[in-house]
Amino acid sequence: MNLILMGLPGAGKGTQAEKIVAKYNIPHISTGDMFRAAIKDETELGKKAKSFMDAGELVPDEVTVGIVKERLGKDDCKKGFLLDGFPRTVAQAEALEDIMSSLDKKLDYVLNIDVPREKLEERLTGRRVSPVSGRTYHIVYNPPKEEGICDVDGSKLVQRDDDKPETVKKRLDVNIEQQQPLIDFYQEKGYLRNIDGDRDINKVFDDIDELLKGLH
Ligand code: AP5
Ligand code: ZN
Repeated sequence: MNLILMGLPGAGKGTQAEKIVAKYNIPHISTGDMFRAAIKDETELGKKAKSFMDAGELVPDEVTVGIVKERLGKDDCKKGFLLDGFPRTVAQAEALEDIMSSLDKKLDYVLNIDVPREKLEERLTGRRVSPVSGRTYHIVYNPPKEEGICDVDGSKLVQRDDDKPETVKKRLDVNIEQQQPLIDFYQEKGYLRNIDGDRDINKVFDDIDELLKGLH
């Protein structure tokens, strides 16, 4: 099962990815998570990505494509994969086609989680994450059992650096600009499936699950 999860910042890619990979046992490949891990570890990749992420801009395609190519070549991707937040530009989508054909892989679906922009700022500014496991919560829509503490690893929840209100606006503008050409690209190729993401987290997952069950 080879899947792409797309959607604007805050649409619920990470939230749904957690559920998909738990049920279907495929690796979750989030370029955003990979960049955040590199920044934490102060690697060369982290140094390259940090200024773009802090500004709410996209990391340049050549950097992003390189890390995805390396990751998809790993053994655990033989059973399938779930890409979260990549591709984000048509140039990245074209590069992915080359990577997949060189690895002899075929895409199943591009799941586009659709949520109106006006809902996204609140989702992003209310998000809290575990600095240990990266598990995501929302102060209103998906709160932890104990306020401010991760249910799973017990760590104190934090806000992502790019979830400050001024960066959130910029991220939304940048991603909205890239979104339609990418949707058109995958629509034309027949991979696109639109998912109404403006509902309860479990209802959104039920729709995704219904589609994925059909792949077995
Ligand atoms: P990335 O980490 O991918 O950030 P993003 O695209 O901005 O998306 P988010 O992670 O913010 O949102 P999400 O859709 O995962 O939502 P979540 O499930 O957390 O990328 C970060 C940065 O890295 C980019 O800005 C860029 O600089 C760089 N980058 C990454 N990939 C790149 C690429 N391909 N090319 C270039 N640069 C790249 O949910 C959000 C909140 O809403 C949570 O609090 C959650 O609990 C809540 N929520 C989720 N679903 C629901 C629901 N149904 N109802 C109510 N609340 C919900
Ligand atoms: Zn995410």
